[in-house]
Amino acid sequence: MKFISKLIVASIAGFALAACQAEDPNMAGVSGKTVISTGTAAIGGEFTLTDHTGDVLTEEALLGKPHLIYFGFAYCPDICPTSLQKMGAAQQLMGRAGDDIGYVLITVDPERDTVEQIAQYVTADPFPKGLRGFTGTVEQVEVVKAAYKVTSIKRAMDGGLVEPGSTDYTVDHSDIIYFMGADGKFVDFFSSRSTPQDIAVRVRQELMKSDK
Ligand code: NI
Repeated sequence: MKFISKLIVASIAGFALAACQAEDPNMAGVSGKTVISTGTAAIGGEFTLTDHTGDVLTEEALLGKPHLIYFGFAYCPDICPTSLQKMGAAQQLMGRAGDDIGYVLITVDPERDTVEQIAQYVTADPFPKGLRGFTGTVEQVEVVKAAYKVTSIKRAMDGGLVEPGSTDYTVDHSDIIYFMGADGKFVDFFSSRSTPQDIAVRVRQELMKSDK
């Protein structure tokens, strides 16, 4: 089991960053290369963030039921909406089981994703019902990104360097939906190639296992 976890971490690390810019859709998705690493790092861990209602919370907020977790940001024109819509479609497909899991968006753009901004974003109609948005300080977001092996990089819209204090940028980031168990431990992940059906089948399978 430990060996499998290592391979999963390695393949997540091998994903290309998804370019969150509408005019560059070919950059989306996985790179197709799997980097074999001997790292033993697990997915998930401690964090402190603020949810879209303004409540400060920690990793304990994810305990008690399984969660689908996505890292993205509200200004993302293309990749994030696609993945969050996919989560929403999976929720619909799961029927009642879809209510037994939690849905979370963690921002990779805390400077622009204020509590107000993310509160508005999580209510978008095709996104999962009950989707919660988490934001925080730049430092807090770096901690949770590191825990989930998420990478992101700011890129100026004109392709140049991002000037300090500038809000004119996009963020390329990992495009992965994490499936975490009710115990807070990593179960599986879904890439841009996964369909809503893939997610629904896998989640139901896991929920049935925990019912026994
Ligand atoms: Ni995005």
